[in-house]
Amino acid sequence: MDFHKRTIKEYDLHDKRVLVRADFNVPLHDDGTIADDYRITQAIPTLQYLLEQACSIVIISHLGRPKDDQDSSCSLRQVAERLAEKFNREVQFADDTIGDDAKQKVAELEPGDILLLENLRYHKEEEANDDGFAQQLAEHGEVFVQDGFGVVHRAHASTDAITKHLPSLAGLLLEQEVGTINSAMENPQRPLMAIVGGAKVSDKIGVLHKFVEKADIMAVGGAMANVFLYLKGVNIGKSKFDKADVPLAEELLAAVEKKAKQSNFVFYLPQDGIAASEISPQAHTRIVDWSSHVIADVESYPAKPTRNQTELGADDMLLDIGPYSGAFIAGAIQLANTVVWNGAMGVTEVDGLQGPVGPFAHGTETVVEAISGQYGNKPFSIVGGGDTVGFLQNKGFLGAFNHVSTGGGASLDLMSGKQLPGVEALWDKE
Ligand code: 3PG
Repeated sequence: MDFHKRTIKEYDLHDKRVLVRADFNVPLHDDGTIADDYRITQAIPTLQYLLEQACSIVIISHLGRPKDDQDSSCSLRQVAERLAEKFNREVQFADDTIGDDAKQKVAELEPGDILLLENLRYHKEEEANDDGFAQQLAEHGEVFVQDGFGVVHRAHASTDAITKHLPSLAGLLLEQEVGTINSAMENPQRPLMAIVGGAKVSDKIGVLHKFVEKADIMAVGGAMANVFLYLKGVNIGKSKFDKADVPLAEELLAAVEKKAKQSNFVFYLPQDGIAASEISPQAHTRIVDWSSHVIADVESYPAKPTRNQTELGADDMLLDIGPYSGAFIAGAIQLANTVVWNGAMGVTEVDGLQGPVGPFAHGTETVVEAISGQYGNKPFSIVGGGDTVGFLQNKGFLGAFNHVSTGGGASLDLMSGKQLPGVEALWDKE
């Protein structure tokens, strides 16, 4: 693993009070309960290691983007409870990050105790990277450990300024995330296949260009594909589409063309899709096969496919890749030795009326099946992106991948080749 920062295994932590920055910014249901606790469970190995060193642990994190310090929807209290349940240990909680209550609870910690402090972002100084606030945080520990991979692309008081006040080490999750993603991008087992989905090209433009540079095969799906299809002259009806993405997509297609001239690079856009006029489990769905491949022919055999089967109507939206595109991507996965996947192929957040797969998630499921080796080849796989990970966890698919990243923006920035301020600020390896 390619990781250049000093980790908790390279420093004597015996009996120390350790301040750990985690990323417990977990997705919440509409009723405010935790929708997916993957970020909580992934924090446990570092905590376990620290307990084995007889440390006492003070954890700091943010949750959401609170309006102000009264915004109880962003309290970390339920996270303390979930961590206790998952870790099978007592986890204390303090109602503030700094101040008397927090200070007193920190002072009373014994080796083996764990204390989670309230949401850092209740203090505006956190996002302002305020040094005075960082100094107050630093008083809670003797050593600082950064393990919140999901937030290291931010230069905040708890990721950047804090490192000026304490010996600053990387936790095991951070080491694993950065090391695994860097190795896959810099030194992958080829062929390297990138699969990118999700909503907007502008959110992922950096990583899309990086994949054109590094990958051997790249497939685009999800709503992100719509702008490329539009540029290729496909009628996309009223599918999700942001005009501001057009110049970015044009630029990317130019880069693709250039690369394809120099090498055997394959850039794949969906050739068929699942269309419906509304996003609901009851929606009437149909396959639209704009490349007029076998599917439309077979569906209407012996007649010729109608226009309706080869083109979207004005009221239609593309909500998933179709079976032909799913099969093509699954086939390409059979040839790959490394697959990096970010973003779903369709709308995954709508549950089906029957069975586990929603009406617009079959494309994503085909990709999962292929990556997990169900069709033969099992490439080394990395998956990231909050929505994709939530879907995978809820469907019980997480075990199918070699590495499931806890980072959204952080993993995209890392893959794009950007420096991560919260990593750079840590101590270098000796
Ligand atoms: C994330 O979920 O990407 C991180 O926790 C960072 O959150 P933020 O985008 O609100 O800074």
